[in-house]
Amino acid sequence: MQILKSSLFLSLIIVFGSCSEPSNRTKTGAIGDSAMVVSAHPLATKAGLFILKNGGNAYDAAIATQFALAVVYPRAGNIGGGGFAVIRESDGAIATLDFREKAPLAAYKTMFQNDSGLVISELSTLGHLGAGVPGSVAGMWQIHQKYGSMPWRELVQPAINLAFEGHRITADEADALNEKQDDFKEANDWTPWVINDDGWHEGAYVRQLQLAATLSFVRDSGRDGFYKGIVAKQIADEMERGDGIITLEDLENYEAIWKEPLVGTYKGHKVISMPPTSSGGIALLQLLQGAEQVNLGDHPHNSTNAVHLMAEIEKRVFADRAKHLGDPDFYQVPVAEILSTQYNSDRFDEINITEITPSSQIKGGDVPYESDQTTHFSIVDSYGNAISITTTLNLNYGCKVWVKGAGFVLNNEMDDFSAKPGVPNFFGLVGAEANAIAPGKRMLSSMTPTILEKDGKLKAVLGSPGGATIITSVFQTVINLVDYDMSMQEAVEAKKIHHQWLPDQIKMETGAIRPETKTELEQQGYKFQEVDKIGRNDCILILPDGKLEGGADPRGDDYAEGY
Ligand code: GLY
Repeated sequence: MQILKSSLFLSLIIVFGSCSEPSNRTKTGAIGDSAMVVSAHPLATKAGLFILKNGGNAYDAAIATQFALAVVYPRAGNIGGGGFAVIRESDGAIATLDFREKAPLAAYKTMFQNDSGLVISELSTLGHLGAGVPGSVAGMWQIHQKYGSMPWRELVQPAINLAFEGHRITADEADALNEKQDDFKEANDWTPWVINDDGWHEGAYVRQLQLAATLSFVRDSGRDGFYKGIVAKQIADEMERGDGIITLEDLENYEAIWKEPLVGTYKGHKVISMPPTSSGGIALLQLLQGAEQVNLGDHPHNSTNAVHLMAEIEKRVFADRAKHLGDPDFYQVPVAEILSTQYNSDRFDEINITEITPSSQIKGGDVPYESDQTTHFSIVDSYGNAISITTTLNLNYGCKVWVKGAGFVLNNEMDDFSAKPGVPNFFGLVGAEANAIAPGKRMLSSMTPTILEKDGKLKAVLGSPGGATIITSVFQTVINLVDYDMSMQEAVEAKKIHHQWLPDQIKMETGAIRPETKTELEQQGYKFQEVDKIGRNDCILILPDGKLEGGADPRGDDYAEGY
C-alpha cells in the first residue's frame, strides 16, 4: 500500500491503510509487510525500493536513495553536501557515521567579518566561500565498505539513469527554483540548468547530463571518483574562478568518520542518535529528559501547559547548545556531563508551570569540564536492518554555485559555524568558541537522525530537515508516538512548535495551537512567530504485528512505500 504526497500525483488516490492499532488513531501511513522506504521524493523512494526488491539490504537502498535524491531533489539531496547516518542492524548492533562537511584548510576564524568586525552574512550563504568540503560521497562509500551487500556500481546506477534520462519536476520544486533565480545568476558565471528565464513550472522535464557524467565517475571509481581526478579538478577550478578556497588537498584529505552512537532512554524506549558534530542527539536526549521530568505527556497535545513546558525545556537546551557544542576534534565537548541525570534534573527543576523564564535570564549551564535545507530518509529492510540518514546543503540549493562541468550544487554549510560569538547565523542560532571556524573543523549541525528501540526490538526510525527546528521536530515526533499514542502518519503530520532560546519567541506552524490557547499564552507573555511549515519528518514505525508504517510528511512531495 502506498501514499503519494506530491501535488504532481494529486490526481491519484491517496490510500490510507488500516492496521491493528488503537482505535483513537484516525490515520495511518503507507503499510509494508516487511520493508519500507520514506524519503523526500517519490523517485528517490522508488530507487531505494528497487534495490531492496533486488536483494539489497537497507544500507544498499540508502546509498541508492541518497544518490537519487541528488538528482531529483536538488535543493537538498546532494553529492555537494554532507550528513549523518544512524544504523541499527537486525542483531541490535548500532553505529553512526559522520560525513559532515569540513572547513577548508584555508578557512580562518574571522573570514566572514569585515575589517570592523561586522559579520557579512551573505559571505557564508551565497557563493563559493560558503561551501564546506563535501562529505556525502565519502559517507556513502564508507557505508558500502562496512555494510553493503550489492556491488557499488549497481547502487549508483539508478541515479545515473534518472540524471541521464530525465525526470519531471514537482510544483514544489518549480516554486523553489523560481524563488532562487537571482541567487543562481549571482553565484554562477555560466548557465547551469537551474537558470530559466521563462520560469519553472510543474511537470517541466529536466535532464542533467553533466551530473550523469559525474555520477559515472563515482560509479566507476567509488570515493576517488569524486575526491580525486576529473571531478575534484572541476571543483578546484570552480573555486579558483569564484574566489573560493576549497583545494585538491582539501578534497583528497576528506574522510567520513565512524562514531560511537549517543544512547539515552525515554519512558522505556532506547533512543539511539547522533553524537557531535551533530548537536541533534545531545539536544534530543536532553529534551526527552526534560519532558519526562516535567511530565509533559500528562498535558493534552499543544495545550497551554504543554506548549509552555516545551518552550521552557527548549530554551534551556538551546542555551546549552550555543555554549558547549562544536566539533569534538577541535573542542572538548562535555557530552557525558551535559547528558548527566543530575545536571538535567537541576536544569529542568527550575521550570515552573505558571511562570515564564525570559531567555535573557537563561544561560548555557555550567557543566564540569575535563563541542532549510536538509533532507531526511528512513529505511527498514526485510531482514530488520534500519538506517536513518539526514543530509544537507544547508539552505535551499546550498551556496547556489553549480560546479561547472560537473553539474551539481555546493553546500553553504560554512554558515553553520559561529562567524562571531553571539551573532546569529541564518537559522538565528548563536554560538561561541566551541563552534568557531578553524581549518579542517566540522561545523555544528542540528541534524538528528534517530532510531528508537523498545524491549530490545526496533521500534521507529526518525528524522527531519529544518535547521534548528530539526531537533524540536524529532523531539515532538517522539513525544507524539510515545505520549500521545499517534500513528506514524499522525505524528509526522501533527503541527509543530519550536523555541530555540534566542530569539525569545515561539515559532509555531499555522494551526499548531488553538486560537484561544495562543491568546492565553500571549497573555502570559509569550511572543509568537507564525510560519507555514516546521520540519519534514520521514519516518517508519514498527507496528505490534511486525508490519511497518511509513510516515511521509505532507509538507513536501515526500513519499512512503513498502512491501
Ligand atoms: N545545515 C543545517 C544543519 O546541519 O543543522
